[in-house]
Amino acid sequence: MCGIVGYIGNRQAAPLLLEGLSRLEYRGYDSAGICVANGELHVEKAKGRLQNLAEKTQNGALLPGTLGIGHTRWATHGQPNDVNSHPHLSENGKVAIVHNGIIENYLELREYLEAKGIRFTSETDSEVVAQLLEVCMQETGTVMDALYMVLHRISGAYALGIISADEPDVMYAARKDAPLLIGFGAGENFIASDVTALVRHTRDVVYLEDGEVAAVSRGGVQIYNAMGQPIEKEHHHIDWEISAAEKGGYEHFMLKEIMEEPEALRRAISPRIREGRVVFDGMQMDLSGYARIMIIACGSSYHVGMVGKYNIEKLCRIPVEVILASEFRYCDPIIDEKTLAVVISQSGETLDTMAALREAKRRGAKILSIVNVVGSSIARESDEVIYTYAGPEIAVATTKAYSTQMAVLDLLAIHLAGLRGTIDEAQYRSFVDAAARIPEQVSEILNDRDRIQYYASLYFNHDSVFFIGRNLDYALGLEGSLKLKEISYIHSEAYASGELKHGTISLIEPGTLVVALGTYTPLFEKAMSNVIEVKARGANVLALTTASNCAEMEKRVDAILSIPDTELPLLPLLGVVPLQLFAYYVALQRGCDIDKPRNLAKSVTVE
Ligand code: AGP
Repeated sequence: MCGIVGYIGNRQAAPLLLEGLSRLEYRGYDSAGICVANGELHVEKAKGRLQNLAEKTQNGALLPGTLGIGHTRWATHGQPNDVNSHPHLSENGKVAIVHNGIIENYLELREYLEAKGIRFTSETDSEVVAQLLEVCMQETGTVMDALYMVLHRISGAYALGIISADEPDVMYAARKDAPLLIGFGAGENFIASDVTALVRHTRDVVYLEDGEVAAVSRGGVQIYNAMGQPIEKEHHHIDWEISAAEKGGYEHFMLKEIMEEPEALRRAISPRIREGRVVFDGMQMDLSGYARIMIIACGSSYHVGMVGKYNIEKLCRIPVEVILASEFRYCDPIIDEKTLAVVISQSGETLDTMAALREAKRRGAKILSIVNVVGSSIARESDEVIYTYAGPEIAVATTKAYSTQMAVLDLLAIHLAGLRGTIDEAQYRSFVDAAARIPEQVSEILNDRDRIQYYASLYFNHDSVFFIGRNLDYALGLEGSLKLKEISYIHSEAYASGELKHGTISLIEPGTLVVALGTYTPLFEKAMSNVIEVKARGANVLALTTASNCAEMEKRVDAILSIPDTELPLLPLLGVVPLQLFAYYVALQRGCDIDKPRNLAKSVTVE
């Protein structure tokens, strides 16, 4: 996902822009650029890593000036190269823009502008904004008025940063369907795609909403609504520590974030257990009034939903459908006012999930979202939001955010079952007590990570891996498989164990690596029979089970991992940790770019 930074103040802008962009590298990108105003607009861009741009500009020294914008690009339209990188200049060189999102009608706008004699330099959709601004400014004379004309002409998603050589004391920002925030300093102000880019300079931020425009000057910020009327906005204070967005001595953010899971889980669980009861402070919604639940998400957040389906249906006896956000939008979903839509998203900015939320709302559903990033778009457009408090997650492959999302959904299932009276008091208390023990049990698993690293050293050369499991173990296997795929680039599939014999078992041959998940104790015997089934065809089996079943399973497999015993609904919360570590250590052995896997972005704000 692209990253935007902007600065206006009394300090040199270029070094601050480069530093801000370095804090956005985790979002994934393939080129970068900055533009500084100093009488005229000076633009420098570089393909590849941000270091290339820093070297090209001597860490910004070659671009003097106190007003500037910067961008890391994750290519959508046009190859990753210097020409297609942002910032884009208008043909007359008077306006520079950076853009995150997609201008869906860019081709017709490009044709219109080329017919007016405008010459484009790039293949991108974003450049039409710069060129259209130039044309509109010939009519309006000011950037602000021209910007409103442009925003009424473009369709699609945008977060925009804009500066002009003719207006050296102001920077403009606008957003629709892509995050953009304003940072307030002393005699200086910032814009950024997310807080990690500016938290070193200010903790006082405002999140722009769709359709809003900001005029950002050294002495202050004026925000306008879609009609151009000045509005006042709520300020947010960023309270997490700067170190939380740094590696803290770990080789990779991913390992750091796995090791942070006990603390992250404490933040997600502890405030929601009081005197033996699950509590969601401030929740207005009456959860017990819904006839069905639809969980909508993407990727790992979808896998959390798969675990939630098993738990909510079993504990609460209410039908739960889990659907990929990208499918939900186009399947004419059956939604009514008795449907509760649970939207799960770490970033709170995933475009597919955001669009699905709006579609569910339009069809009458109430929206309860489970989100990590405070103040994110999905959080702000939900009827209720439960924050996971995982803290900033930098690695593209989610770990602590996935686990805290699941912890929240598990607590929600217990809470809803209590409201509906579908579990008795003894079960309720047992589940709550078990949930309170989870952080400590995760620490125990992490303390045994050398064993997982050893198995990774045995298995990192496989070119395909099967994860098999039933019920909660199947849902868990989906996440274990994705983790392995996305950071080690090993092809992997997750299969419901009972389904193997209906086709896929034809792929099992001598030496095939099968990760057999057997933590769901009611189906342990079935898990064992599936292990025997694949062993009979020569598979190499790495099994994961609970401490109480470890000895039994160990007799049948080539390698064994175990997790502490806990209540059934909470097993995946523990089971995912060895799978996250296994994926990490395999990718480490393979020398992969673990925090920034190829082709991936931390938050996917494009279709
Ligand atoms: C998870 O490791 C991936 N990075 C990806 O599947 C992610 O879970 C998905 O893009 C959804 O992101 P979100 O939770 O921020 O909406």
